[in-house]
Amino acid sequence: MQTDNNCIVIFGASGDLTHRKLIPALYNLFKIGRLNERFCVLGVARSDLNDETFRQKMREALLNTEETTPETLEDFCRHLYYQAVNTSDASDYGKLVPRLDELHDQHQTCGNTLYYLSTPPSLYGVIPECLAEHGLNKEEHGWKRLIVEKPFGYDRKTAEALDVQIHRFFKEHQIYRIDHYLGKETVQNLLVLRFSNGWVESLWNRNFIDYVEITGAEAIGVEERGGYYDGSGAMRDMFQNHLLQVLAMVAMEPPAIINANSMRDEVAKVMHSLRPLTQDDVEHNLVLGQYTAAEIDGKEVKGYLQEKGVPANSRTETFMALRCEIENWRWAGVPFYVRTGKRLPARVTEIVIHFKTTPHPVFSQNAPENKLIIRIQPDEAISMRFGLKKPGAGFEAKEVSMDFRYADLADDQVLTAYERLLLDAMKGDATLFARTDAVHAAWKFVQPILNYKEAGGRIYEYEAGTWGPVAAEKLIAKEGKVWRKPSGLMKKKV
Ligand code: BG6
Repeated sequence: MQTDNNCIVIFGASGDLTHRKLIPALYNLFKIGRLNERFCVLGVARSDLNDETFRQKMREALLNTEETTPETLEDFCRHLYYQAVNTSDASDYGKLVPRLDELHDQHQTCGNTLYYLSTPPSLYGVIPECLAEHGLNKEEHGWKRLIVEKPFGYDRKTAEALDVQIHRFFKEHQIYRIDHYLGKETVQNLLVLRFSNGWVESLWNRNFIDYVEITGAEAIGVEERGGYYDGSGAMRDMFQNHLLQVLAMVAMEPPAIINANSMRDEVAKVMHSLRPLTQDDVEHNLVLGQYTAAEIDGKEVKGYLQEKGVPANSRTETFMALRCEIENWRWAGVPFYVRTGKRLPARVTEIVIHFKTTPHPVFSQNAPENKLIIRIQPDEAISMRFGLKKPGAGFEAKEVSMDFRYADLADDQVLTAYERLLLDAMKGDATLFARTDAVHAAWKFVQPILNYKEAGGRIYEYEAGTWGPVAAEKLIAKEGKVWRKPSGLMKKKV
């Protein structure tokens, strides 16, 4: 299915996300013929650029990152435009009215407009209001949709206030809160794996699952984003959104049908079923950490406090590990261990489902654990681990694995997360976008962590290049379990 004719207006067009993710995603969709011919992109920012200088910047970005041919690149660039607007001054948005009229005419985009807010979060409430002041939210001539980047709010109160602000001018069905983890192929595949295989679904509950591990590890530090990151930390940057969404995909019930509302109803139910964190939980089932300087592969790596834009006395966490539970029939009593961090030994996102052991070890005391490893990135794969007989005398069991790697489906074109989500928003499919109730429930769940931090809760140190503070190992060891230490690229074995 192709997208509707439409004009994409990117606010924050001179920023990082535009040239690193959004324009490359649109370019690739254009290249493979998934975009309607009748589309255009209007970059909007304060910077003093014009159509040609904007095109030149985007051309350079694409030449650096994508496989291009000069013809396709030029064809694509002919759809790009730029309008300088002082985004905090409502009257300046007036410039967009004739500009958009002209572009809709020229590209026959029928007034359909997708506004992408890729600006500092302080503008998420301002832009919709300024657009409305000039009637740019009205749907009489074509649909109007708004994609809002994360973070959606800073805590529960601000997220609710932001919703109230945006809902004054855009209805919920027009709002697409993007969480790029939901655009990842393997995250969606989790649903297909669970709901289209009888044997998987029948084992997927508290009777057979011992515990679930979710890891979102990054090898890089905060790089040039120290200023932003310091106000955010691992909890707001990764846990409250990306990892809770992944957890919801692991835990949700099958939707009655696959459409935006029934899918998102199930996600919201998981968020509402998370057992509220008590004071005891934040003190004993949570570990926050911050990386310190180290030498990795012969190179000196800065500690978080030495990073650009980070105050020398910052208490922002770059690592977080939490044990939580879901209070419902399927999951009661099953611990979910979730961790995320920067400057860990590898870039790996994965889910590990640990199955219960046999009731009695017949062959050896150390029977191999049964686990299903779902590798979300970088090398998408699924690996089932179980025990088989070690050849030779006796009956000793050893762990073996059955692996499936996405790369083996070489003939299928896998879209990147931004490609998939932009495409969905252009088609009006909100299934993979976060809905207001789930976002609020997620904030409600994490609020005790924010309170704990604010009240001076402990931030452990960990050396860059390690798997986080020792306290995180102790946290999981209390129940006799250990975190998996996944390697970066799986190559042959995950
Ligand atoms: C972003 C965070 O949302 O997700 C970054 O702001 C993080 O700090 C990134 O690095 C991780 O995304 P991915 O797709 O590389 O796992």
